[in-house]
Amino acid sequence: MDRWFADGELNTAYLALDHHVAEGRGEQCALIYDSPVTGVKKTYSYSALRDEVARFAGVLRAQGVGKGDRVVIYMPMIPEAVIAMLAVARLGAIHSVVFGGFAPHELALRIDDAEPRVIVSASCGIEFANVIAYKPLLDEAIIKARFKPARCIIVQRPQLAAVLQEGRDIDWASAMQTATPADCVPVLSTDPLYILYTSGTTGKPKGVVRDNGGHAVAMKYSMKAVYDIAPGDVFWAASDVGWVVGHSYIVYAPLIAGATTVLYEGKPIKTPDAGAFWRVCAEYRVKALFAAPTAFRAIRKEDPDSRCLQGHDLSALRCVFVAGERLDPPTYHWVKDTLGKPVVDHWWQTETGWAICGNLTGVELKAPKPGSSTVPTPGFHVQVLDDDGHPLPPGKQGSIVVKRPLPPSCLPTIWGDFARFHNDYLKAFPGYYLTGDGGYIDDEGYVFIMGRIDDVINVAGHRLSTGEMEEILAGHPAIAECCVIGVHDELKGQVPVGLVLLKNGVTIDQQQLEAELANCIRHEIGAIANFRKAFVVPRLPKTRSGKILRKLLRQIAAGDDFPIPSTIDDPASIPEIASLMAQHGLIQKR
Ligand code: COA
Ligand code: AMP
Repeated sequence: MDRWFADGELNTAYLALDHHVAEGRGEQCALIYDSPVTGVKKTYSYSALRDEVARFAGVLRAQGVGKGDRVVIYMPMIPEAVIAMLAVARLGAIHSVVFGGFAPHELALRIDDAEPRVIVSASCGIEFANVIAYKPLLDEAIIKARFKPARCIIVQRPQLAAVLQEGRDIDWASAMQTATPADCVPVLSTDPLYILYTSGTTGKPKGVVRDNGGHAVAMKYSMKAVYDIAPGDVFWAASDVGWVVGHSYIVYAPLIAGATTVLYEGKPIKTPDAGAFWRVCAEYRVKALFAAPTAFRAIRKEDPDSRCLQGHDLSALRCVFVAGERLDPPTYHWVKDTLGKPVVDHWWQTETGWAICGNLTGVELKAPKPGSSTVPTPGFHVQVLDDDGHPLPPGKQGSIVVKRPLPPSCLPTIWGDFARFHNDYLKAFPGYYLTGDGGYIDDEGYVFIMGRIDDVINVAGHRLSTGEMEEILAGHPAIAECCVIGVHDELKGQVPVGLVLLKNGVTIDQQQLEAELANCIRHEIGAIANFRKAFVVPRLPKTRSGKILRKLLRQIAAGDDFPIPSTIDDPASIPEIASLMAQHGLIQKR
């Protein structure tokens, strides 16, 4: 597979922290923690953050963590999450951050795959006004997991104390008091920096591997080229450290670039109002804000006339960046008109770690086209292919691919499963990386991403697998067969809906079934799946070989024209299912 700077050695945490201290920038602010849900605001200079990271690296080293060992981090948006990530990197170990909204089952899957020596977590997270106890979720995940970590290090938050398990759990604060700071451990450019699990088309999440060298180069380059950020500028990615955006643009890239990063433990709305983003931008003189379209849709819904904008001085804000899901043109116009700033849509994936396409604000700002993420970023050779692998002309929609070699930071493999990596990304079109997205390139080279062409959906900027949801629904005793598709949602972009076939002879109240199925998904994947709707169907459209025609169901839901597949077993099932979907209000109006 393509490798970058194969003979190089580095330490990513050194580049993010020690390097700036050595260059005399130690007193500059590295991290601003702003938590409207707890009322806490705190800043860390580069020196202070380096010292905390070195000390926590000492805590980890005392637990036997060394080069190549895995450490799972399951934490809310608190500074200790960033400190833990950088401390793992400092030791040349490999972190695997698991988004705090995932349920124990999901955490257990990741523990089993990564086999961590240590897990770092916290007593609780805070969602709007709700305190969510994390520790019981962690304990349940460890019980469910086949692999047992030797130690758990827990940050006790004042909002809720966790019960620590004697012999296994360690209190973060006490361990830090006695720790000896650890130095940076050099690693090879090709050594893994982290594993970040993302949804594929099956129930098993895939561990995207990020190397050290290629990643550091892409992070540094993108801060200037994509975001036009220089040392000392304030950059805010309003995401979560559990997602790739958080890894790249809350933690690594802004720090490697010598900028100031904002870690925000709050929401775009209700913490305390729809002016939360504007308040943070004004208070810290944020130069570039990066968020998911869903966040802006939520603000627009709550405050359509932008009353909450009043009184906030956004003169430092130069540009707004969005990614994570399709930026629909109405949202694009609303953000642009409300703020009077350029809005840059850029398209990327966990697999790449940075933008595949964008409008390069630090190189040359092109005239934007709503609905397009502009042009490929240097290093990405983006093409559109038909089902047989032939390049399509401008304007024709097909499968979006990237010609190999892939640029720095792109995944070299799936953790422990090169065969899956090859199958999922390289096999379909030899010489190309399959992105899983569909779309087209216009005659001026602008790329339009129209959505996934596989069983991955994007709910409120969170990537989820419908295949995994199907596996969970299929475990319900009343269900014979099922299919989950993503349908359009005004706020969250997409939400999942289950179409289920009952076992012969089973009768069950529709509402009761829907509630039970929603509960199964909430318990197994987490509330973030937003699974609320399911209904019973008499049959599902299938091929003669018995495969459910998921693409067809997606096309019906999207309100698209669709050809009747020649392989269909029972053509009468199509109008029947379309009518049922219409009755349930699931067909997107065009
Ligand atoms: N820990 C625990 N639970 C979480 C969680 C976390 N980190 N994140 C979300 N959840 C829970 C929520 O509390 C909610 O639970 P509920 O069903 O019991 O109310 C559920 O998951 C659904 O959350 P969400 O889809 O986020 O809806 P919401 O109504 O809570 O919030 C938005 C709506 C628009 C404010 C929110 O989705 C948002 O800020 N989206 C932007 C996402 C983003 O930044 N993505 C980054 C990609 S770049
Ligand atoms: P994730 O790996 O969670 O970052 O999700 C990646 C997926 O989100 C992509 O494959 C796209 O389907 C979608 N996505 C991300 N950014 C954009 C964008 N700017 N426009 C359209 N879709 C996007």
